[in-house]
Amino acid sequence: MAELPALLRQVNKPKDPKNLTDLEKKHLPIIEAPTTVKAGEPFQVTVHVGKLLKHPNEPEHHIQSIELYKGYVQLARVDLAGAMTEPKVTFTVSLPANTDDANGGLRVFEKCNMHGVWESTQPITVG
Ligand SMILES: [Fe+2]
Repeated sequence: MAELPALLRQVNKPKDPKNLTDLEKKHLPIIEAPTTVKAGEPFQVTVHVGKLLKHPNEPEHHIQSIELYKGYVQLARVDLAGAMTEPKVTFTVSLPANTDDANGGLRVFEKCNMHGVWESTQPITVG
């Protein structure tokens, strides 16, 4: 059995966030969300894959899914149909009190059918 490429054996993150490669720009989920929210009040989290550099969106190569976590708790997941759905989604979320950033910020995982899983994080404080 052939060895899997490294991209498919790990959760990928940029090696140098200040100097992204084209591959990283195409796959890094960009999170747009407030950094402070009120407990129990809905807010929006938009995730855009390919915002920095457009990712292909073809049946043979596309973003398959986007998942949103708060720390280790999964909040939402969408599955995308290649070529027919753009990898940009907005979730409406409300978080309970006492889930401060010490329990983990927002985490997003996206999966490309050719280049594996990529993660972005963003701190959030629930006040
Ligand atoms: Fe890809």
